[in-house]
Amino acid sequence: PIRPLIMCGGSGTRLWPASRSNRPKQFLPLFGALSTFQETLRRVADAGLFGRPVIVTNKDHRFLVSDQLEALGIEADVLLEPEARDSGPAILAGARHIADQDGETALVLALAADHMVRDVEGFQRACRQAGTAARAGHIVTFGIEPTGPATGYGYIEPGEEIVAGGRHVVRFVEKPDATTAERYVGEGFLWNSGNFLFQAGVMLADYAMHDPETADAVGEAVATAQSDLGFLRLDATAFARAEARSIDYAVMERTARAAVVAATFDWSDVGSWSAVRDLYALDEAGNAARGQAAFVDARANFVSTDGPLVAIAGLDDVAVIVTPDAVLVARRDDAAGVKALVEQLKASH
Ligand code: GDD
Ligand code: MG
Repeated sequence: PIRPLIMCGGSGTRLWPASRSNRPKQFLPLFGALSTFQETLRRVADAGLFGRPVIVTNKDHRFLVSDQLEALGIEADVLLEPEARDSGPAILAGARHIADQDGETALVLALAADHMVRDVEGFQRACRQAGTAARAGHIVTFGIEPTGPATGYGYIEPGEEIVAGGRHVVRFVEKPDATTAERYVGEGFLWNSGNFLFQAGVMLADYAMHDPETADAVGEAVATAQSDLGFLRLDATAFARAEARSIDYAVMERTARAAVVAATFDWSDVGSWSAVRDLYALDEAGNAARGQAAFVDARANFVSTDGPLVAIAGLDDVAVIVTPDAVLVARRDDAAGVKALVEQLKASH
């Protein structure tokens, strides 16, 4: 079976004020009753294809994780990070843990906890295909057909076919600037979905080649982890020596083993309020709402409210997000603006 490794430590500031440091985006029911973390768990619950999941999260979020697991009746190994070190060390820790349990050739599916995929069958089909390439020693990415020159994604240049449905990656470039992204889209590059399939030992060896200090630090943090109330606490002194770097910069831009399969499923990384709106059924004017809202002469807006009725007149493309202690009004696609707001608020409070 493929062992799911769920990376659950992001902060999700672009979805403020619903996403907060004590309850980040991946734990919120943004659409429907389940959080994207829970949707991710459900996507890999097929016991024929997937094994026991491993969750890597920040120690502060351990009870959110255990509550949300329990609500689904799913059991998992939960590794706790003493501090955020980005996705690289999280993947290292999970891969080390899985290699210790199942051996170095165990297949690992590293998953972002904050994405929306509805076509579970298509997702599993892509995983089976990626499994073939991973067994052959590749670190497999899932390539998304770009819809524009977005700068928030990794870009993949696909090369020749190496296994059925899997292509060699000529180049992987994380978050290029706008001009470069535009050129890449024209040249047929794909977006990186942010999910990866590989053999545990392949990832461990590749990481150790590119950043031996971090591989060593995380290996030690796992080896000396303390079990506590069913959680596994990574050792703080060792983990502190890990370089904070995303897997994309730490490994994917440098590895010679990258492959790509087509993501044969719908995919959203829900990176802005605009992307949240896209998950909803829209009214004739393109408005959507979670909670009570009214619209007059207003188009393509998104409302999310935890209580008060929100009424919009004469405005288009706006997001209004109401929580008990903060209200956001912004252009709905201005994810960078929301992120900047959060940084400014953090600095001034
Ligand atoms: N455990 C843990 N610890 N998880 C983390 C940490 C951490 O310190 N930091 C981030 N993560 C998790 C996030 O929760 C998310 O599930 C995943 O790692 C990716 O982190 P993001 O911060 O969301 O990355 P990104 O969106 O900027 O970029 C990645 O995803 C894009 C697609 O959405 C990259 O892989 C890009 O190449 C990709 O295109
Ligand atoms: Mg992301």
